[in-house]
Amino acid sequence: MSGEYEDAFRESIKNPEQFWGTAAETIVWYKDYDRVLTAKDPPIYRWFEGGELNTCYNCLDRHIEEGCGDRTALIYDSPVTQTIKKYSYTELRDLVARCAGGLWKLGVQKGDRIVIYMPMIPEAVIAMLASARIGSIHSVVFGGFASRELAKRIEDAEPKIIITASCGIEVDRIIPYKPLLDGALALCTHKPSACVYVQRKEHKVDLSGKQVISWDQLMNAEPAPCITVKATDPLYLLYTSGTTGKPKGVVRDTGGHLVALSWSMEQIYGMKPGEVYWAASDIGWVVGHSYIVYGPLLHGCTTILYEGKSVGTPDPGAFWRVIAEHGVAVLFCAPTAFRAIRKEDPTGSYIRKYDLSSLRTLFLAGERCDPDTLIFAEEHLGVPVIDHWWQTETGWAIGANCAGLELLPIKPGSCTMPVPGYQIEVLDTEGNTVPKGVTGNVVVRLPLPPGCFTTLWNNDADFITTYFSAYPGYYLTSDAGFIDEDGYLWIMGRTDDIINVAGHRLSTGAMEEVLASHPDIAECAVSGVFDPVKGEVPLGFVVLKAGVEREVATIKTELIALVRQKIGPIASFKEVAVVKRLPKTRSGKILRGTIKKIADGTPYSVPATIDDPAILDEIKEKLMEMGYPKH
Ligand code: COA
Ligand code: AMP
Repeated sequence: MSGEYEDAFRESIKNPEQFWGTAAETIVWYKDYDRVLTAKDPPIYRWFEGGELNTCYNCLDRHIEEGCGDRTALIYDSPVTQTIKKYSYTELRDLVARCAGGLWKLGVQKGDRIVIYMPMIPEAVIAMLASARIGSIHSVVFGGFASRELAKRIEDAEPKIIITASCGIEVDRIIPYKPLLDGALALCTHKPSACVYVQRKEHKVDLSGKQVISWDQLMNAEPAPCITVKATDPLYLLYTSGTTGKPKGVVRDTGGHLVALSWSMEQIYGMKPGEVYWAASDIGWVVGHSYIVYGPLLHGCTTILYEGKSVGTPDPGAFWRVIAEHGVAVLFCAPTAFRAIRKEDPTGSYIRKYDLSSLRTLFLAGERCDPDTLIFAEEHLGVPVIDHWWQTETGWAIGANCAGLELLPIKPGSCTMPVPGYQIEVLDTEGNTVPKGVTGNVVVRLPLPPGCFTTLWNNDADFITTYFSAYPGYYLTSDAGFIDEDGYLWIMGRTDDIINVAGHRLSTGAMEEVLASHPDIAECAVSGVFDPVKGEVPLGFVVLKAGVEREVATIKTELIALVRQKIGPIASFKEVAVVKRLPKTRSGKILRGTIKKIADGTPYSVPATIDDPAILDEIKEKLMEMGYPKH
């Protein structure tokens, strides 16, 4: 193979400073950087040290100054409220500048944190950009998380202000946010100086409380200009699941982030300014940060903020309606959204109802894409369907078919090639490179390219030990995979206790913590097991304390409700089994992976270190009673 991709990849590894220095020319810098890459104290690297810039300026003001102020920046399309609203670059900038002015009035300063706990409404995007405008650091919390998860994030980020809304709207119900936020604040020792509420007409809240103000009050301010921040200053924190119940606060810098996103919009997604880009994700996830908000706006595209689902809002034609109505060129979504469509519309009849001629490429990410889903999408849409692999930590793709550079042949099930900047290797537990086709630990040789996380908030030590200690000189992705004979990368699943439910990254450890807090539970284990739509769902096994004689059915109902209440509905925790003992190794490690294999009906070997192999028979029996395997 020889072509644009290979040239770019080789150059990015051989001359990273030159490669990313050229990419940085697309960004407006207030002050030029001193060096493209600084190896501070490996594994700590800094990109564009000495440079000064502003993310909001690059995403909004510069396009207006370049004469594109009338171009549509944002389309809010909300089937759940029957609303479509368009904002030009000038309109969006003016709203953002006033919001930034309002934050200033509330005392927010550079470096202060702002927690944004919001549904998919324009005010959420405005708040993110306003935070960037004045150099504060936002931390968006996904609306599907319950009070306890929100509280963990508030406690760690210590925000000066929390911006939220009166409610979120799901397919079948309205979700009042105030009880969730009040519940979270009751659990926190940190108290913000104000909570700002967007009043939605679907559900109004009483804003008479202390330190509670309305969005309209916030917006009643003089517009604020873009302030100068350092390339290495944090733009945002985004909490993501780790293996324990404590989420990890991924810190994203300013300069490297903009350079990486700008490069990716053109070279991975093949977008041109003025075209319509749609990431059907949520601003609570990294995909939403990078490709609903910052990437498309930076590149002068029109971005879509979609408050709905792929099915049920109102039917499996929802995505095709949006593409046809707004002329979407590139759609980015999770495979699960497609599996849900396929389940309800297996023949693709809704697809044929719409004019999808604007659609050039579909990108999938967030979880492993099974070949069937990819082939279904390809057959029915008639455009290249590109699976690409990334993580909250990296903020953009690690492995992809860089359509903007050169579209390589697609192999369903593989995310194609390492993206320029990422030198990927597959190692065994001893650190040896495994042969082609053999699955091992996927790692990235340092330095990571620009845009990747620079540390974990309040936790430099965890940053080093979690990601850089296993293999010195490498970033540990915690994904297992292999590279085939053609150099294609295949990502097969996590090597830790993180699971992926409908494209949402969740910690089984956090769920186990909740189950263990129930007074009747002695021990528990949660595994991610196969689900035909959501890819994986959590399945709990619990051992009751000696002497517990309450109805098992009641305890199960309580456990399911507890996870929903403490973590949120997004965990999709709906099944739990009571067993006498859990399968463990002699050293006490619960064999969650073996439980998963039994549930999924995939071959497994009884680990040599198992304490008592007979326990697996009880687990197997239970799973059969529950209808596993489910495919
Ligand atoms: N606020 C409150 N609750 C939320 C929520 C939010 N923002 N988002 C989801 N929930 C709730 C849902 O209502 C659901 O509740 P239920 O158990 O009462 O039904 C639960 O959390 C699970 O939600 P979800 O995973 O969205 O499942 P679903 O059955 O409602 O929808 C899909 C199924 C496949 C349509 C949906 O999962 C989907 O579109 N997934 C794509 C995910 C995605 O884009 N991920 C981003 C990574 S790129
Ligand atoms: P998140 O941090 O929420 O983006 O989740 C990252 C994890 O999702 C990765 O570590 C993978 O396990 C999984 N993932 C994301 N995209 C893909 C993909 N295209 N193929 C396989 N797994 C993926």
